[in-house]
Amino acid sequence: MANLDAHWNAIYRKKNDQQLGWYEEDLSQTFKFLAKITQKTDAVTLVTGAGTSLLVDQLSAQGYHLIINDISDAALDKLRQRISYADKHQWLCHDIANPLPNTITTVDLWIDRAVLHFLLSEEAIDRYFANIQGVVSKGGFVLLAEFSTTGASQCAGLKVHRYSLAEMQQRLGESFTLIAAEDYNYINPFGEVRPYLYALFQRVIAI
Ligand SMILES: C[S@@+](CC[C@H](N)C(=O)[O-])C[C@H]1O[C@@H](n2cnc3c(N)ncnc32)[C@H](O)[C@@H]1O
Repeated sequence: MANLDAHWNAIYRKKNDQQLGWYEEDLSQTFKFLAKITQKTDAVTLVTGAGTSLLVDQLSAQGYHLIINDISDAALDKLRQRISYADKHQWLCHDIANPLPNTITTVDLWIDRAVLHFLLSEEAIDRYFANIQGVVSKGGFVLLAEFSTTGASQCAGLKVHRYSLAEMQQRLGESFTLIAAEDYNYINPFGEVRPYLYALFQRVIAI
């Protein structure tokens, strides 16, 4: 689809958060994975495709230093008006499948829930993983939560590319090692089961 930003902006302008098929009030699945990580106090966390996720509110309240990304300025505007400490964070309206601006040099934790799976072409997927390779620090972490191979084939009116653990690992390459992974059935606001794969990787320090 050509105008991806317009597609997502239209959704965020039309719908309340609770009407979104990915709205998540209970963030315990993500926090279960984040609990496996110890980080320095000035660590930088990039939340890609943050949308209007409540995760950002909670991370901000917990003192995380955030880069908050989305392709939709409508989503980022909503989030910015809502969260505490908004001015402490870096806001990045950008297609994550394009090279990151060179102002972003180091990310200690990269969090993606339901964003990567919207990238369909090999070129876009390659550029996404090149961004990870380019900014995630040695010893840094990547948490991916994407539709699993048993998951839905569409979301938000768009086709998705579903992920196995083997594909995530293969695309990240040998400089990332698996810390933990789990299949997780998310129940969306309409009561539908959406099978996800959660996987946490760490960048190897020696490579
Ligand atoms: C299914 S929603 C998930 C939102 C949020 N991560 C959550 O868990 O609630 C997908 C989000 O990714 C954003 N998005 C889609 N394609 C993107 C891209 N190429 N670059 C950055 N953000 C993108 C959308 O605007 C939307 O906010």
